[in-house]
Amino acid sequence: MADINWYQTNGKYSDGSSAKNEKTISLYSLADVQLRFLCPDDLEEVRALCQEWFPIEYPFYWYEQITSSNGKFYSLAAVYKQQIIGLIVAKIKPYVHLNEEDRGILAKSLSDCDVAYILSLGVLKEYRRNGIASLLLDSLLNHLVTPERRKVKAVFLHVLTTNSAAIMFYEQKKFRLHFFLPYYYSIKGKCKDGFMYVLYINGGHPPWTIYDYIKFVCSKMVNGVGIFPWMVYQLNRALHWVWKEQKRDEHNNH
Ligand SMILES: CC(C)(COP(=O)(O)OP(=O)(O)OC[C@H]1O[C@@H](n2cnc3c(N)ncnc32)[C@H](O)[C@@H]1OP(=O)(O)O)[C@@H](O)C(=O)NCCC(=O)NCCS
Repeated sequence: MADINWYQTNGKYSDGSSAKNEKTISLYSLADVQLRFLCPDDLEEVRALCQEWFPIEYPFYWYEQITSSNGKFYSLAAVYKQQIIGLIVAKIKPYVHLNEEDRGILAKSLSDCDVAYILSLGVLKEYRRNGIASLLLDSLLNHLVTPERRKVKAVFLHVLTTNSAAIMFYEQKKFRLHFFLPYYYSIKGKCKDGFMYVLYINGGHPPWTIYDYIKFVCSKMVNGVGIFPWMVYQLNRALHWVWKEQKRDEHNNH
């Protein structure tokens, strides 16, 4: 059977680059790249970069928001020779505020926690494959695993199914495909499919499946001693629940 490549069309990647003929600049050292937060003066530069990188048109106020210093966004730029060569924009949100299609990332027990959403990540074409996006993502992740942000249990993003470079980047960074989102994007009047990728942090995890329960019980059995206290604990919880239900019924009947 012929190999099907999901991500490439006509020898071009969705980000407009061709794999072979790309003119790139190899940075001698990442130490020459500075990281700093965006400020209102960056608005036009950031807007020009995003228009080059992304097929989606963002409204002007979106640029105002991500470059304002109101602390609502984590907007970090990589600067080289006084030019912005890459940026990442993320936002922390309470899990309960997520749109319907983004629910299901976290287990029910974590529904009062927060999640971080990566709105944007891009690097100037000629500076790609120098580790700039890795530098920006690592800074965000380091920020999210500090004790003050322990409530943030997952980082997620959406990506076009055709964006091979971004998909390979996120997969290399241990993000995992969570959802396929048919017709998620509307680009120049055409519907395009998306993927949602997730990385769990600070002890976050997805809802347990039957497979996880079986795995858990098996691991407890293999480890031997742990299974009995765990079973007693579960039995105790079940009895407690039955007792509470009975009490509630008695109360309702009176
Ligand atoms: C995706 C993007 C941000 C990656 O930026 P980058 O600075 O080139 O990424 P890095 O150099 O940190 O790459 C780290 C690793 O990711 C993987 N990777 C990144 N780009 C890749 C590509 N085009 N093909 C295959 N693997 C790739 C590689 O494993 C790479 O490590 P290596 O260079 O040692 O092999 C960049 O291609 C880009 O700006 N694309 C356009 C904007 C975009 O689509 N953003 C994502 C929106 S969701």
